[in-house]
Amino acid sequence: MELTSMGNCCALLKSIMGFATEEEHDGRLPKQKKVKVVFVLGGPGSGKGTLCAKIVEQFGYSHLSSGDLLRKEIKAGSEHGTMIQNMMNEGKLVPSDITVRLIQKAMQETDNDKFLLDGFPRDEENVRTFEKLTKIEPDFILFLDCPEEEMTKRLLSRNQGREDDNIETIKKRFRVFQESTLPLVNYYASKGKVRKVDAARPVEDVFESVKTIFSSANEQGA
Ligand code: AP5
Ligand code: MG
Repeated sequence: MELTSMGNCCALLKSIMGFATEEEHDGRLPKQKKVKVVFVLGGPGSGKGTLCAKIVEQFGYSHLSSGDLLRKEIKAGSEHGTMIQNMMNEGKLVPSDITVRLIQKAMQETDNDKFLLDGFPRDEENVRTFEKLTKIEPDFILFLDCPEEEMTKRLLSRNQGREDDNIETIKKRFRVFQESTLPLVNYYASKGKVRKVDAARPVEDVFESVKTIFSSANEQGA
Protein backbone atom coordinates (compact mmCIF):
# COMPACT_ATOMS: atom_id res chain seq x y z
CA MET A 1 0.00 0.00 0.00
CA GLU A 2 1.41 3.39 -0.98
CA LEU A 3 0.77 6.11 1.59
CA THR A 4 1.63 9.60 0.41
CA SER A 5 3.18 12.33 2.57
CA MET A 6 1.56 15.61 3.58
CA GLY A 7 4.64 17.37 2.25
CA ASN A 8 4.08 20.12 -0.21
CA CYS A 9 0.33 19.91 -0.68
CA CYS A 10 -0.89 23.39 0.23
CA ALA A 11 -2.38 24.15 -3.16
CA LEU A 12 -4.02 20.77 -3.30
CA LEU A 13 -5.40 21.07 0.20
CA LYS A 14 -6.68 24.50 -0.65
CA SER A 15 -8.58 23.23 -3.65
CA ILE A 16 -9.82 20.08 -1.99
CA MET A 17 -10.59 21.37 1.45
CA GLY A 18 -11.61 24.85 0.45
CA PHE A 19 -9.05 26.59 2.66
CA ALA A 20 -7.89 30.07 1.77
CA THR A 21 -4.17 30.90 1.83
CA GLU A 22 -2.53 34.16 2.91
CA GLU A 23 -1.47 34.65 -0.69
CA GLU A 24 -5.08 35.27 -1.60
CA HIS A 25 -5.46 37.87 1.10
CA ASP A 26 -2.28 39.94 0.90
CA GLY A 27 -0.10 38.56 -1.90
CA ARG A 28 2.56 37.08 0.41
CA LEU A 29 3.77 33.49 0.16
CA PRO A 30 1.11 30.97 0.99
CA LYS A 31 1.07 29.83 4.57
CA GLN A 32 0.55 26.11 4.96
CA LYS A 33 -2.43 25.08 7.00
CA LYS A 34 -1.90 21.58 8.29
CA VAL A 35 -5.00 19.50 8.83
CA LYS A 36 -4.68 17.07 11.74
CA VAL A 37 -6.47 13.80 11.28
CA VAL A 38 -6.62 10.96 13.80
CA PHE A 39 -8.19 7.66 12.74
CA VAL A 40 -10.11 6.09 15.65
CA LEU A 41 -10.38 2.35 15.07
CA GLY A 42 -11.67 -0.58 17.08
CA GLY A 43 -14.23 -3.35 16.79
CA PRO A 44 -17.98 -2.82 16.93
CA GLY A 45 -18.82 -1.68 20.46
CA SER A 46 -15.20 -1.01 21.45
CA GLY A 47 -16.25 2.52 22.47
CA LYS A 48 -15.18 4.64 19.48
CA GLY A 49 -18.16 7.00 19.63
CA THR A 50 -18.08 7.23 23.43
CA LEU A 51 -14.38 8.12 23.55
CA CYS A 52 -14.54 10.51 20.59
CA ALA A 53 -17.19 12.58 22.42
CA LYS A 54 -14.79 12.94 25.35
CA ILE A 55 -11.80 13.79 23.14
CA VAL A 56 -13.86 16.52 21.45
CA GLU A 57 -14.65 18.12 24.83
CA GLN A 58 -11.09 18.08 26.08
CA PHE A 59 -8.98 18.53 22.95
CA GLY A 60 -11.18 20.51 20.53
CA TYR A 61 -11.30 18.06 17.65
CA SER A 62 -14.30 17.67 15.36
CA HIS A 63 -15.75 14.17 15.44
CA LEU A 64 -16.85 12.52 12.20
CA SER A 65 -18.19 8.97 12.42
CA SER A 66 -18.50 7.18 9.08
CA GLY A 67 -21.31 5.05 10.53
CA ASP A 68 -23.23 8.14 11.71
CA LEU A 69 -22.75 9.86 8.32
CA LEU A 70 -24.09 6.77 6.55
CA ARG A 71 -27.08 6.53 8.91
CA LYS A 72 -27.82 10.21 8.16
CA GLU A 73 -27.84 9.43 4.43
CA ILE A 74 -30.40 6.68 5.02
CA LYS A 75 -32.58 9.01 7.10
CA ALA A 76 -32.35 11.76 4.49
CA GLY A 77 -33.67 9.31 1.88
CA SER A 78 -30.65 9.84 -0.40
CA GLU A 79 -30.34 7.97 -3.70
CA HIS A 80 -28.02 5.40 -2.11
CA GLY A 81 -30.06 5.14 1.11
CA THR A 82 -31.59 1.70 0.51
CA MET A 83 -28.31 0.16 -0.64
CA ILE A 84 -26.50 1.61 2.42
CA GLN A 85 -29.20 0.31 4.75
CA ASN A 86 -29.00 -3.19 3.25
CA MET A 87 -25.20 -3.28 3.53
CA MET A 88 -25.24 -2.06 7.14
CA ASN A 89 -27.88 -4.62 8.06
CA GLU A 90 -25.55 -7.29 6.68
CA GLY A 91 -22.56 -5.81 8.52
CA LYS A 92 -20.85 -5.28 5.15
CA LEU A 93 -18.67 -2.35 4.16
CA VAL A 94 -20.38 0.36 2.14
CA PRO A 95 -18.45 1.26 -1.09
CA SER A 96 -15.53 3.57 -0.39
CA ASP A 97 -16.41 6.35 -2.78
CA ILE A 98 -19.73 6.91 -0.95
CA THR A 99 -18.19 6.91 2.53
CA VAL A 100 -15.14 8.96 1.60
CA ARG A 101 -17.18 11.62 -0.17
CA LEU A 102 -19.43 11.95 2.89
CA ILE A 103 -16.36 12.39 5.10
CA GLN A 104 -14.72 14.84 2.71
CA LYS A 105 -17.91 16.93 2.51
CA ALA A 106 -18.29 16.97 6.29
CA MET A 107 -14.65 18.08 6.65
CA GLN A 108 -15.17 20.87 4.16
CA GLU A 109 -18.24 22.06 6.01
CA THR A 110 -16.49 22.10 9.38
CA ASP A 111 -14.57 25.16 10.47
CA ASN A 112 -11.85 23.24 12.29
CA ASP A 113 -8.49 21.81 11.32
CA LYS A 114 -8.49 18.85 13.73
CA PHE A 115 -10.59 15.79 12.96
CA LEU A 116 -11.30 12.45 14.60
CA LEU A 117 -12.40 9.99 11.94
CA ASP A 118 -14.35 7.37 13.90
CA GLY A 119 -14.61 3.97 12.23
CA PHE A 120 -12.62 5.11 9.23
CA PRO A 121 -10.74 3.69 7.38
CA ARG A 122 -12.06 0.15 7.45
CA ASP A 123 -10.05 -1.40 4.64
CA GLU A 124 -7.30 -0.68 2.14
CA GLU A 125 -9.76 0.64 -0.41
CA ASN A 126 -10.95 3.25 2.14
CA VAL A 127 -7.34 4.39 2.58
CA ARG A 128 -6.61 4.55 -1.13
CA THR A 129 -9.79 6.49 -1.91
CA PHE A 130 -9.26 8.91 1.00
CA GLU A 131 -5.67 9.59 -0.05
CA LYS A 132 -6.62 10.05 -3.66
CA LEU A 133 -9.34 12.56 -2.84
CA THR A 134 -7.79 14.46 0.06
CA LYS A 135 -4.00 13.74 0.02
CA ILE A 136 -4.20 13.62 3.81
CA GLU A 137 -2.22 11.19 5.94
CA PRO A 138 -3.24 10.57 9.56
CA ASP A 139 -1.14 11.88 12.43
CA PHE A 140 -1.74 8.63 14.27
CA ILE A 141 -4.26 5.85 14.78
CA LEU A 142 -6.04 5.45 18.11
CA PHE A 143 -6.81 1.75 18.40
CA LEU A 144 -9.37 0.63 20.98
CA ASP A 145 -8.56 -2.97 21.76
CA CYS A 146 -11.45 -4.94 23.26
CA PRO A 147 -12.41 -8.64 23.37
CA GLU A 148 -15.45 -9.73 21.35
CA GLU A 149 -17.23 -11.02 24.45
CA GLU A 150 -17.19 -7.56 26.06
CA MET A 151 -18.16 -5.81 22.80
CA THR A 152 -21.09 -8.20 22.31
CA LYS A 153 -22.35 -7.48 25.82
CA ARG A 154 -22.19 -3.71 25.18
CA LEU A 155 -23.91 -3.86 21.78
CA LEU A 156 -26.73 -6.07 22.99
CA SER A 157 -27.46 -3.73 25.89
CA ARG A 158 -27.07 -0.45 23.94
CA ASN A 159 -30.80 -0.09 23.20
CA GLN A 160 -30.53 2.75 20.71
CA GLY A 161 -32.64 1.04 18.08
CA ARG A 162 -29.76 0.27 15.73
CA GLU A 163 -30.88 -2.39 13.29
CA ASP A 164 -27.37 -3.90 13.19
CA ASP A 165 -27.29 -4.53 16.97
CA ASN A 166 -28.58 -8.09 16.78
CA ILE A 167 -26.44 -11.13 17.40
CA GLU A 168 -26.43 -12.34 13.76
CA THR A 169 -25.27 -8.99 12.38
CA ILE A 170 -22.87 -8.44 15.26
CA LYS A 171 -21.08 -11.69 14.33
CA LYS A 172 -20.81 -10.50 10.72
CA ARG A 173 -19.47 -7.10 11.86
CA PHE A 174 -16.81 -8.87 13.94
CA ARG A 175 -15.77 -10.95 10.94
CA VAL A 176 -15.43 -7.89 8.69
CA PHE A 177 -13.40 -6.15 11.40
CA GLN A 178 -11.05 -9.17 11.71
CA GLU A 179 -10.65 -9.66 7.98
CA SER A 180 -10.54 -6.10 6.65
CA THR A 181 -9.75 -3.61 9.43
CA LEU A 182 -7.30 -5.46 11.69
CA PRO A 183 -4.79 -5.95 8.81
CA LEU A 184 -4.92 -2.18 8.33
CA VAL A 185 -4.24 -1.60 12.04
CA ASN A 186 -1.28 -3.99 11.74
CA TYR A 187 -0.02 -2.14 8.69
CA TYR A 188 -0.10 1.21 10.52
CA ALA A 189 1.48 -0.45 13.59
CA SER A 190 4.41 -1.51 11.41
CA LYS A 191 4.84 2.20 10.56
CA GLY A 192 4.83 3.14 14.27
CA LYS A 193 1.54 5.04 13.88
CA VAL A 194 -0.73 3.07 16.22
CA ARG A 195 -1.53 4.11 19.79
CA LYS A 196 -3.23 1.08 21.31
CA VAL A 197 -5.44 1.29 24.37
CA ASP A 198 -7.03 -1.46 26.46
CA ALA A 199 -10.68 -0.55 25.90
CA ALA A 200 -12.20 -3.33 28.01
CA ARG A 201 -11.93 -1.19 31.16
CA PRO A 202 -14.50 1.31 32.48
CA VAL A 203 -14.92 4.39 30.26
CA GLU A 204 -13.11 6.77 32.64
CA ASP A 205 -10.08 4.47 32.83
CA VAL A 206 -9.93 4.13 29.06
CA PHE A 207 -10.18 7.91 28.73
CA GLU A 208 -7.23 8.39 31.13
CA SER A 209 -5.04 6.42 28.69
CA VAL A 210 -6.49 8.30 25.72
CA LYS A 211 -5.77 11.66 27.40
CA THR A 212 -2.11 10.73 27.84
CA ILE A 213 -1.87 9.90 24.14
CA PHE A 214 -3.51 13.15 22.97
CA SER A 215 -1.57 15.31 25.45
CA SER A 216 1.68 13.84 24.22
CA ALA A 217 0.62 14.31 20.58
CA ASN A 218 -0.15 17.97 21.38
CA GLU A 219 3.28 18.47 22.97
CA GLN A 220 4.98 16.97 19.95
CA GLY A 221 2.86 19.17 17.68
CA ALA A 222 1.70 15.97 15.95
P1 AP5 B 1 -20.39 2.09 12.93
O1 AP5 B 1 -21.55 2.93 13.20
O2 AP5 B 1 -19.06 2.70 12.92
O3 AP5 B 1 -20.45 0.87 13.96
P2 AP5 B 1 -19.32 -0.02 14.62
O4 AP5 B 1 -17.95 0.13 14.11
O5 AP5 B 1 -19.87 -1.39 14.56
O6 AP5 B 1 -19.22 0.53 16.06
P3 AP5 B 1 -20.37 1.06 17.01
O7 AP5 B 1 -20.78 2.41 16.60
O8 AP5 B 1 -21.43 0.02 17.14
O9 AP5 B 1 -19.58 1.03 18.38
P4 AP5 B 1 -18.53 2.10 18.95
O10 AP5 B 1 -17.16 1.50 18.87
O11 AP5 B 1 -18.75 3.44 18.40
O12 AP5 B 1 -18.95 2.03 20.48
P5 AP5 B 1 -19.90 3.02 21.33
O13 AP5 B 1 -19.10 4.14 21.84
O14 AP5 B 1 -21.14 3.30 20.58
O15 AP5 B 1 -20.60 1.35 11.54
C1 AP5 B 1 -21.82 0.69 11.27
C2 AP5 B 1 -21.81 0.13 9.87
O16 AP5 B 1 -21.67 1.20 8.92
C3 AP5 B 1 -20.70 -0.84 9.50
O17 AP5 B 1 -20.99 -2.16 9.91
C4 AP5 B 1 -20.67 -0.70 7.98
O18 AP5 B 1 -21.74 -1.38 7.41
C5 AP5 B 1 -20.90 0.80 7.80
N1 AP5 B 1 -19.64 1.57 7.82
C6 AP5 B 1 -19.20 2.39 8.81
N2 AP5 B 1 -18.00 2.93 8.49
C7 AP5 B 1 -17.70 2.44 7.27
C8 AP5 B 1 -16.57 2.62 6.42
N3 AP5 B 1 -15.54 3.38 6.76
N4 AP5 B 1 -16.56 1.99 5.24
C9 AP5 B 1 -17.62 1.20 4.87
N5 AP5 B 1 -18.70 0.96 5.65
C10 AP5 B 1 -18.73 1.59 6.83
O19 AP5 B 1 -20.23 2.06 22.56
C11 AP5 B 1 -21.08 0.96 22.41
C12 AP5 B 1 -21.88 0.78 23.73
O20 AP5 B 1 -20.98 0.45 24.77
C13 AP5 B 1 -22.60 2.06 24.19
O21 AP5 B 1 -23.81 1.71 24.78
C14 AP5 B 1 -21.63 2.67 25.22
O22 AP5 B 1 -22.30 3.41 26.20
C15 AP5 B 1 -21.00 1.42 25.80
N6 AP5 B 1 -19.60 1.62 26.21
C16 AP5 B 1 -18.64 2.29 25.53
N7 AP5 B 1 -17.46 2.22 26.17
C17 AP5 B 1 -17.68 1.47 27.27
C18 AP5 B 1 -16.84 1.04 28.34
N8 AP5 B 1 -15.52 1.36 28.40
N9 AP5 B 1 -17.39 0.28 29.33
C19 AP5 B 1 -18.71 -0.06 29.27
N10 AP5 B 1 -19.56 0.33 28.31
C20 AP5 B 1 -19.04 1.09 27.30
MG1 MG C 1 -19.98 4.25 16.83
